[in-house]
Amino acid sequence: MSSSMITGGVGMVGRQLARMLLARGERVDILDVAPATKLPADIRDRVTLIHADLTNWAEIMHAVASNRPDTIYHIAALMPPNSERNHAASWEINVNGTMRVLEAARLFGVGTVVYSSTTATFASQLPEPVPNDHPQFPEMLYGVTKVCSERLGEYYYRRYGTNFRGVRFLSILGPGRVPGSGWSAYTSLVIEECAKGNPYVIKVDEDLRLRFIYVKDAALSLMKLADAEEGQLTTRMYNLDGFSASTRELVDGVLAHVPDAQITWEFDPEYQHVMDTRYGVIQHRMDDTLAVQDWNWQTSFTREEAIGDFIKDVRQGRT
Ligand SMILES: NC(=O)c1ccc[n+]([C@@H]2O[C@H](COP(=O)([O-])OP(=O)(O)OC[C@H]3O[C@@H](n4cnc5c(N)ncnc54)[C@H](O)[C@@H]3O)[C@@H](O)[C@H]2O)c1
Repeated sequence: MSSSMITGGVGMVGRQLARMLLARGERVDILDVAPATKLPADIRDRVTLIHADLTNWAEIMHAVASNRPDTIYHIAALMPPNSERNHAASWEINVNGTMRVLEAARLFGVGTVVYSSTTATFASQLPEPVPNDHPQFPEMLYGVTKVCSERLGEYYYRRYGTNFRGVRFLSILGPGRVPGSGWSAYTSLVIEECAKGNPYVIKVDEDLRLRFIYVKDAALSLMKLADAEEGQLTTRMYNLDGFSASTRELVDGVLAHVPDAQITWEFDPEYQHVMDTRYGVIQHRMDDTLAVQDWNWQTSFTREEAIGDFIKDVRQGRT
């Protein structure tokens, strides 16, 4: 039986990935600082939760040495705005944490390390679409830590043959998003809260248009990249693209399924400014040609399908 370890597996992407790996019969270990109570009920008893912190060498080494996963999906991270409020923690978790995972993988012979980076590694003034190898000059410390991790992983690949590979996600739409986990979190929260019958206040312009990948596509991309033949890969880091949606289109998508949703608009110029500047990158289309060519990547969910599936899962308690 193949085995996978997911760092940050309690989070939004990690839990979806865990479901997919379990469905194909893998053993799944989740390494996270979050308690087991945060794991969705449908996977809680089917995975092993290793309570370990990326900031702790001994805990990471012990977790990898004693579980010997074939693949590590390294997706734990501190995200904005928290990453921008605490620089030291950001660096310790996002950069040094990646170093610890790579060292453990090297020392204990882990077959593959798959990394989740972000399109926030690019600046906000960008060509359309953004080429895979476009220079990375991030607007936020978060992006800087992700560029460092990408380069660290590539270094381990060149120097030690560690089979590092990764993707850069746009904003991820899906259930389980925690308030405060990214300035773009409102795009998911408006859907989740309305599906639960709760009111939601939107603070940005209805015309603000962002690009998204649905969380199930995000998880699937990590699994597909892990499975890709080494000889087919022409780079270690891959841009991914997805679909586009304005705030109005997201709200209309919600109203199509929840006609009595209580959504109010309270425009906040400061919030909008962040979305236009530091978050401007997620208004751009990514060139994902290499992912398509090298490992046959394609998304499964359109905007409408993603919103419908999202609401269905929330109603069934599968967040
Ligand atoms: N959510 C998005 O819109 C988005 C967009 C682009 C890229 N990404 C990247 O995708 C990955 C997954 O994102 P997500 O939305 O699932 O994040 P999330 O915040 O939902 O989950 C992150 C998980 O990491 C865990 N974690 C945090 N610090 C830790 C530490 N010190 N040690 C161990 N575990 C720790 C958290 O407890 C949490 O369960 C991240 O690497 C993120 O940078 C996310």
